[in-house]
Amino acid sequence: MRESPKATPRGVFRTKSIEQSVADTEDPEHGLRKSLSALDLVVYGVGVIVGTGIFVVTGSVAKQYAGPATALAFVASAVVCGLAALCYAEFASTVPVAGSAYTFGYASIGELPAWIIGWDLILELALGAGVVSGGWSGYVANLMGNAGIGVPDALSHKSGRFGFDILAAGLVLVLTGIVMAGMKLSARVTGVVVAVKVTVVLVVIFAGLFFITGSNYHPFLPPSRPNTGSGSDLHAPLVQIMFGFTPSSFGVMGIFSAAAVVFFAFIGFDIVATAAEETRNPQRDLPRGIFGSLAVCTALYVAVSLVVTGMQKYSRLDTDAPLATAFKSVGAPFWSGLISFGAAVGLTSVVMILLLGQTRVFFAMSRDGLLPRAFSKVHPKFGTPYRTTLLLGGVVALIAGFFSVGELEEMVNIGTLFAFVVVAIGVIVLRHTRPDLHRAFRAPWVPVLPVLSVCASLWLMINLSVETWLRFAGWMAVGFAVYFGYGRSHSLLARGGGAQDGSAPSRPRFPGRA
Ligand code: ALA
Repeated sequence: MRESPKATPRGVFRTKSIEQSVADTEDPEHGLRKSLSALDLVVYGVGVIVGTGIFVVTGSVAKQYAGPATALAFVASAVVCGLAALCYAEFASTVPVAGSAYTFGYASIGELPAWIIGWDLILELALGAGVVSGGWSGYVANLMGNAGIGVPDALSHKSGRFGFDILAAGLVLVLTGIVMAGMKLSARVTGVVVAVKVTVVLVVIFAGLFFITGSNYHPFLPPSRPNTGSGSDLHAPLVQIMFGFTPSSFGVMGIFSAAAVVFFAFIGFDIVATAAEETRNPQRDLPRGIFGSLAVCTALYVAVSLVVTGMQKYSRLDTDAPLATAFKSVGAPFWSGLISFGAAVGLTSVVMILLLGQTRVFFAMSRDGLLPRAFSKVHPKFGTPYRTTLLLGGVVALIAGFFSVGELEEMVNIGTLFAFVVVAIGVIVLRHTRPDLHRAFRAPWVPVLPVLSVCASLWLMINLSVETWLRFAGWMAVGFAVYFGYGRSHSLLARGGGAQDGSAPSRPRFPGRA
């Protein structure tokens, strides 16, 4: 309901002023505690980035799309992420409040686009957490199997059988409790987990070097061949339908197909931006945190994929636990067990941080009234949005229980890439609408760079399947219905909370504030 036409001059394109976004964080009832440094952010970033992508997806991608040239797919994907990172860094250092791309969108393009991003981020964060916890459960079941403890079929998700994955759901619930207990504790737990994970990845790289056989690199880029396995247009990449390309494996096009899939391995660096509000010096530390984590991960991925495809012929790589299996194949079972353990530990932090990112975005949307405002209440002792955390933890546990890894993975990729597109557009818009704002980090070559970022993200998106695009459209349609049914009328801006009309920013006014 619009109470004041003056307060909503641009309807669904009303924007929230930057000053207002920052002022929100100072509200004692709805503000988060500021405790993170740049190093915390890098740890946080590596904690969420290194996961299923490198531990699982590397094997299937090398086998299906790019062979030893998977390393190049990682580089291509890193370029797309690097372009997006420059845009994220500018935005995050300009609008240092919780909510990531959602908050950025609200400050630049308008309420409806911001809602669309927030809704879309659920795919990346909540769905991502569910998918990765499924991967975690696979590794843990594996380790338990080694110790002679079996998991009943009805309580797992093995090979397409229907079941409720009790391990995955249990992990999500435990992590929900940790996230609810507060950022400080979460960061500490993350630090330990990240140390274990990075050590194991380094073990793969350095121990693996001794088992490389040069002939496994020939051919480095296997020749292109038509991909005939799908059997249905729905499984073909959208780019094929659009331009009439033959979907191919290997060859140069195979590198791009591979890049769209291994993109999953990079998901997470953008989440560092969601911690803006909890960072002590966001203007300086956020860009450092984002680039630091992206650079570390790119180096690790390229090294791991080169080592693994050098240890075992790409066509023989395992698709469930390729790193561990590569060591088994060269007769090094000790390393293999260690890697499985590290993967199980490492995936824990990925799930936790995705969950944390999701609670923060949901929190920001609720604080703005686009979702029920009761969810943005902060716990008086823990300083965390406990209601949001409990609700989301429950939903993600159900997703983790009912869906297996492969089923929803591409949805996570498309959701994240779409957010990249909107953020890049937001950088250009905000430079025009608010040139006066202090930007601790300025992306170079604007608008050329953000336009390149949009094109690069769209390129990866159209390399995803038609089926994924249809599901994505369906999810977005539901989002529109929720916005027009609830958010549009409950928005604080719609109720006179200080919309901005592109001129002077209005003074913040919030219900419940003195
Ligand atoms: N980048 C994260 C992973 O690979 C989501 O698991």
